[in-house]
Amino acid sequence: MPSNAARIVEHAALGNLPARPGVSFLYDGEPVQGHEGEPIAAALLAAGFRVFRTMPRSGDARGGYCMVGRCADCLVVVDGVPNVPACVTPVASGIAVQTQHGRGEAEWAGFSEPSG
Ligand code: FES
Repeated sequence: MPSNAARIVEHAALGNLPARPGVSFLYDGEPVQGHEGEPIAAALLAAGFRVFRTMPRSGDARGGYCMVGRCADCLVVVDGVPNVPACVTPVASGIAVQTQHGRGEAEWAGFSEPSG
């Protein structure tokens, strides 16, 4: 089970951050604790997860890049819906988040990658 050891609770410039209500959700079947109103990516990073998706052709891991909803490096599957940007989607209690492999199965069912 992941810890919240990476969560920032005391910021160098902002001081102690206020406590917020917690929310529980699943990531690849593992329970994760987040804070109400924070993005899914923030909750996952605080819990120690670094890989949110893998690339369609190479399979390389991605864990977010821009963190403002522009690059698609953080796409995850939320409650069966692929291509959800984890960096700008608020976490919610009870959601099931999964690592997205490739382009997301639901949207691209039947699509095959060109070889080479
Ligand atoms: S990290 Fe770039 S869209 Fe989320």
